[in-house]
Amino acid sequence: MSIATIPLAGVIGHPIAHSKSPRLHGHWLKRYGIPGHYIPMDVASNDLAHVLNILPKAGFKGVNVTIPHKEAMLDIADVISDRAALIGAANTMTFQSDGKLHADNTDGIGFISNLKQNAPDWDPSSGPALVLGAGGAARAIVAALLHERVPKIYLANRTRARADALKAHFGAKVEVIDWSQAAPYLEDVATLINTTSLGMEGKEELKLSLDHLQSQTLVTDIVYTPLTTNLLATAHAKGCRVVDGLGMLLHQAVPGFERWFGHTPEVDEDLRQVMLR
Ligand code: ATR
Repeated sequence: MSIATIPLAGVIGHPIAHSKSPRLHGHWLKRYGIPGHYIPMDVASNDLAHVLNILPKAGFKGVNVTIPHKEAMLDIADVISDRAALIGAANTMTFQSDGKLHADNTDGIGFISNLKQNAPDWDPSSGPALVLGAGGAARAIVAALLHERVPKIYLANRTRARADALKAHFGAKVEVIDWSQAAPYLEDVATLINTTSLGMEGKEELKLSLDHLQSQTLVTDIVYTPLTTNLLATAHAKGCRVVDGLGMLLHQAVPGFERWFGHTPEVDEDLRQVMLR
């Protein structure tokens, strides 16, 4: 194979050293014998549009984008998927053969695919969800839950105004509740999701009392360091099904890899182990 036909992709952020995406895509490239490369790129905001203009000329098929560029992508892209427009941010960019830059957001699909893979009998329509947090991750997750026909979403955030903004965007099925008053709502929810950074190594713990949590509730966390957060450990001890957050990271990467490298990659235990090393 000549150099010109070697497919390239990567991840753009600022900073970028912490990104786990090179390891993830690198594992798949090796596993499927694809002679491509996936490269981390540290690009400042001022250079973003220029770099995205140059990359396809250098053999790039597309890129992931991460903090702080996810929102800016919507201004730079030529074509925006419905879900990226709804979420207001993009994480998966593809250089189309017609020269246009396509922006997509796969965080929500990553979140849902993780739950479907690890809790196959989870029925999103069976009852309300309680979402903790109202940042970028919460936006993608609320959009995905509504798409999966969750009947109601209780939304609690430390800064109430951010939760109100999400409600204004997503409408009547979202009900903002007070951060400090969230615990009793656990009585009534089919799904509990932590989208905040609380419980992550080096951060504060989530101080939500789980006394009202029912054993039928599915509990998941987007935090995956540690893999078993205190939230998940306590919920598990109460008999709940729990799904850790690593799978969301893995599944959100699938559509990009598929588009850029032409192969649908699998998310399995092998990959999880590689990511946990
Ligand atoms: P992301 O895009 O990854 O979701 P973010 O936009 O910074 O990141 O959002 C982080 C979330 O964690 C927010 O909901 C934030 O609450 P605020 O909107 O009040 O900032 C929440 N969060 C972070 N630290 C927190 C803390 N110590 N207590 C409560 N919530 C916290």
